[in-house]
Amino acid sequence: MSNGEIKKDYLKKIQKITKFNESYYNKNNPLVSDGEYDLLKKKIISLEQEYDFLDHKDSPSKNVGFKPSKNFKKIDHKVPMLSLANAFSEEDLINFEKKIINYLNAKKGFTIEYSAEPKIDGISASLIYKNKKFVTGLSRGDGQTGEDITANLRTISDIPQFIYAKDFPEEIDIRGEVFIQNSDFKKLADKFANPRNAASGSLRQKNPNDTKKIPLKFIAYTFGFEKGMNINNQKDFLKKLSDWGFKTNHLNKIIDGTKNLMQNYNQIEKKRGDLDFDIDGIVYKINDFQIQKRLGFVANAPRWAIAHKFSANSGISKILDIDIQIGRTGALTPVAKINPVNIGGVVVSNATLHNEDEINRKDIRIGDTVKIERAGDVIPHIISVDLKKRNKKSNKFIFPSKCPSCGSKTIKEFNLITKKKDAVRRCSSEGFECEKVAIEKIKHFVSKEAFNIDGFGKKIVENFWKKNLIKLPQDIFNLDYKRIENMDGWGKQSISNLKYSIDLRKNISFERFIYALGIRHIGLENAKLISKNLKSLRNFINLSKSNTFDELLNLDGMGETQINSIKNFFSNKTNLKVLMELNNILSIRNNIETRKNGPLKDKTFMLTGKLDGMSRAEAKSLIEQNSGSIISNVTKKLNYLIIGDKPTKRKVDMAKDMNIKILSQDDWIKMLNKTS
Ligand code: IVH
Repeated sequence: MSNGEIKKDYLKKIQKITKFNESYYNKNNPLVSDGEYDLLKKKIISLEQEYDFLDHKDSPSKNVGFKPSKNFKKIDHKVPMLSLANAFSEEDLINFEKKIINYLNAKKGFTIEYSAEPKIDGISASLIYKNKKFVTGLSRGDGQTGEDITANLRTISDIPQFIYAKDFPEEIDIRGEVFIQNSDFKKLADKFANPRNAASGSLRQKNPNDTKKIPLKFIAYTFGFEKGMNINNQKDFLKKLSDWGFKTNHLNKIIDGTKNLMQNYNQIEKKRGDLDFDIDGIVYKINDFQIQKRLGFVANAPRWAIAHKFSANSGISKILDIDIQIGRTGALTPVAKINPVNIGGVVVSNATLHNEDEINRKDIRIGDTVKIERAGDVIPHIISVDLKKRNKKSNKFIFPSKCPSCGSKTIKEFNLITKKKDAVRRCSSEGFECEKVAIEKIKHFVSKEAFNIDGFGKKIVENFWKKNLIKLPQDIFNLDYKRIENMDGWGKQSISNLKYSIDLRKNISFERFIYALGIRHIGLENAKLISKNLKSLRNFINLSKSNTFDELLNLDGMGETQINSIKNFFSNKTNLKVLMELNNILSIRNNIETRKNGPLKDKTFMLTGKLDGMSRAEAKSLIEQNSGSIISNVTKKLNYLIIGDKPTKRKVDMAKDMNIKILSQDDWIKMLNKTS
């Protein structure tokens, strides 16, 4: 057989196994016997072993075990499930502590007490208890919205269904990690790549009986929403957790200061291999809840906690070439293309070289033999060069003085804060004028925290760009769908989905809009600040017209760097064009303060039919601004169904059956106007 024929045969097999998986795991309907399935799996794997060029994301060798179901109900977390910032060294820890001391304006010698908790590498879950009963269990999802996996979580014996303790809060969302012990994993090793995948795969089975077959464990470590809890610090909370019947980690400790954190870290890292569960670091949390509260959050992680990761796995390889990638802000990032090397189970073929200074400092050259480190989901990087192995004729790497994409001069800026030149070199055009920058800007524009256009991934941006379908963000809203229909990989359904996701985002909050513009130094936090204070795009544009950007300097978090960057943004003609055209196409919602105790407090609403003079999105935000919440199904939890013109009959009938109050638009507006 020729290579082409081998590949064809291989792809056919992949297609077949994908179909089997889908039916078995999502429809609970096995199409073939276990024996036949295993044989197919073996054939695929041995083909891959024989022919290097065979590879597919759905291959059983990638071993996601079973494919998880997509059919879980989505539920918003009352309190978001955040992630943690990472620390890799003692220096990172010292900086973390310094920042806290500065933030609290505490005296230099102030000792901070931490709860140090081994970070289990599993899947986090949120367990909601009401009146001592376990009522709902959610996965983390995207942190804001999780999936309802209650039935599967109920199969885990570490999760109490009922709490007998007298002092258990009236309502609480207990959070922790679902994982599988290494000794149990051994029995499943042929099905999954690692224990984490096994836990995640089995938690997301459609049928809880499948979950039950896997011996999952649960360790509790924090809480989300709570009502009626009276505990002042993490130490007491952890103690209570175990009194209430939850498992906690026996290696948790209360520790003072970074020196002692390091000692504990080294001790636990040594023990790591002997533990019966995988840990990938230690989580440090400020023990005192009051201090936690003062410190609050940045973007999507608390200021009062950090994950101290264990040292990475490393490998040796050779640099084949150095590529220069251009980012959204024009930064040139050198990337080493290396001879593929397996580091801790992952094949690495690229390593970041960070920036020009890093290359110079380590004198990294093409052809060098280097040590590469890979830690968790962090991009692999080069730690050292083996000079003994260097070819005598090799040359120093010269960083390009012109942008490889648009040819503009590359520059190093002067940093106002450090009073030094930046380590990063940038393309000086720094706008839509540079092709690579423009593509990255559009990727940012559609990304999750910005416009969040479902299904509009990075590859699609690149492809549409190549085909001249998009050159500026506003083009997304005027796509030539007729042309797309004739393109490879697109069909009627996928186009209709894309169109739907795009149209959905034509209505956007001012905050997201600002962030999506991708103004340098204006990240999520600053976009929020601007939105909160300026309230509308109109006011933002007015600042530019009257050249009064300096007003923003009064906002905590905005400095000269940010203001200069905004000025710079407005001084570019293309940016102005983008801004104006988007303003015409989109409906950008002004920021209106939400009321904590509005007239709709604790009430849930659902809308059906067309409202008079108001979009769905506006109605939704009005409800939320007045402390009500929206739900998307007619269930017992629903208090009011608001009906507009041509409502869905089924929904109205269901609401009537369930004795749910039905409101006309007028009734509802009257409710809104009532003062509480
Ligand atoms: S606290 C805001 N405590 O680490 C606080 N997380 O990157 C965040 N994790 O998704 C959670 N052990 O899955 C916390 N003792 C521990 C933890 C822990 C493991 C995981 C958790 C979370 C991730 C944060």
